[in-house]
Amino acid sequence: MNIPQRAQVVIIGAGPSGLLLGRLLDLAGIDNVILERRSPEYVLSRIRAGILEQITVDLLAKAQCDERLKAQGIPHHSVQLVHEGKPAKIDLPQYTGGRIVTAYGQTEVTKDLMDARFAGGGAAVYEAEDTRPQNFDTHDPYVEFRHGGAAHRIGCDIIVGCDGYHGPSRAAIPASAIKTYMKTYPFGWLGLLSDTPPVAREVVYINHDRGFALCSMRSHTRSRYYIQCDADDDVRRWSDEDFWTEFKKRLPVVYAETLVTGPSLEKSIAPLRSFVAEPMRFGRLLLAGDAAHVVPPTGAKGLNLAMSDIHYLHTAIIEYFADGCDSILTEYSRRALARVWKSEHFSWWLTNLTHRFNDDPFEQKMKQAEMEYLTTSEAGRRMVAENYVGLAV
Ligand code: APR
Ligand code: PHB
Repeated sequence: MNIPQRAQVVIIGAGPSGLLLGRLLDLAGIDNVILERRSPEYVLSRIRAGILEQITVDLLAKAQCDERLKAQGIPHHSVQLVHEGKPAKIDLPQYTGGRIVTAYGQTEVTKDLMDARFAGGGAAVYEAEDTRPQNFDTHDPYVEFRHGGAAHRIGCDIIVGCDGYHGPSRAAIPASAIKTYMKTYPFGWLGLLSDTPPVAREVVYINHDRGFALCSMRSHTRSRYYIQCDADDDVRRWSDEDFWTEFKKRLPVVYAETLVTGPSLEKSIAPLRSFVAEPMRFGRLLLAGDAAHVVPPTGAKGLNLAMSDIHYLHTAIIEYFADGCDSILTEYSRRALARVWKSEHFSWWLTNLTHRFNDDPFEQKMKQAEMEYLTTSEAGRRMVAENYVGLAV
């Protein structure tokens, strides 16, 4: 592989954020290199969420990577909240001026963007080791890494850290220049993927005495289900049968009676956390996606938030190269964070509302009253619908 020594932008991380940014910059004629620690196969083996806001669908269209999404994505016109065993459907277009969400897996989004990268011939270095952003507080930043046993260095104008929560970009920023906010939750999600028809037509969030449960899907023949579990639980403790038995107990009767079970294709436990680092710019190093913020999965905001960062960021970078105005990069951080905090709030709020954790009986009554209000009041339904389809960018 021919690794360049210079590029306008070096992107660290080839998850959905890095790949989308690379693609939009390619289309704008800005040369960029993507460095990824893992292999393409490994990146595509990660199972993540699968509900796309309209802004994500629109960005994938702008990136000309939406052919499969248009053919296979499943439009959802409502979402369900269940409490006391009673499902309540919240219409989405009615409260949001016609907007909906689309079920299409993050893995598929990543595959479509990766295929476009390979087809377009853009530089992407997989299995890059020891990647380190350097000199980004000067006008001469560069990125060092090793690949195939050799040391490399790529000089650039801008470095973008799209390297997820554990990546090296945020870690390279001096602690005095970045403020972080973190909340961990005392439970995890045990998820199971199976080739079984989804039990419901839309996503169902369930607050049950035994703990939270969620019904989602990847296609008309593939389901994705979750149950709240202990934060320190071990997935090896859960046979498929154990999962289905527990999941069924948390479903409303109408779904428990029609649920189709089958062998798992994947089963894993994810921790839940809320995290924000601000600002998202330090000199010539910019952060996007999980590198800068994490939300608990309740509400499916993680991928969509990463995509909205890239919406702001690609326009900022294009403007920066057009007129050289440095303040546009600071403006990126300000605009992105304004939306990040609102999504952080929705994800935190929906997590608290739908999960059971050390609730005293009074707290539980409060959750029930709030659920009742949300599902029966026009204002409550509008609030859920507006946040669920995604706030404006
Ligand atoms: N060098 C290069 N790449 C790295 C390094 C490193 N040292 N460390 C991590 N990476 C890569 C990871 O292997 C991963 O492919 O950065 C990528 C980050 O991708 P994601 O974690 O998917 O983050 P992002 O692209 O911001 O997407 C956010 O993904 O994690 C979910 O819930 C999250 O849905 C949200 C979305
Ligand atoms: C999923 O489809 O995996 C999913 C859907 C909704 C969520 C979280 C995950 O809130």
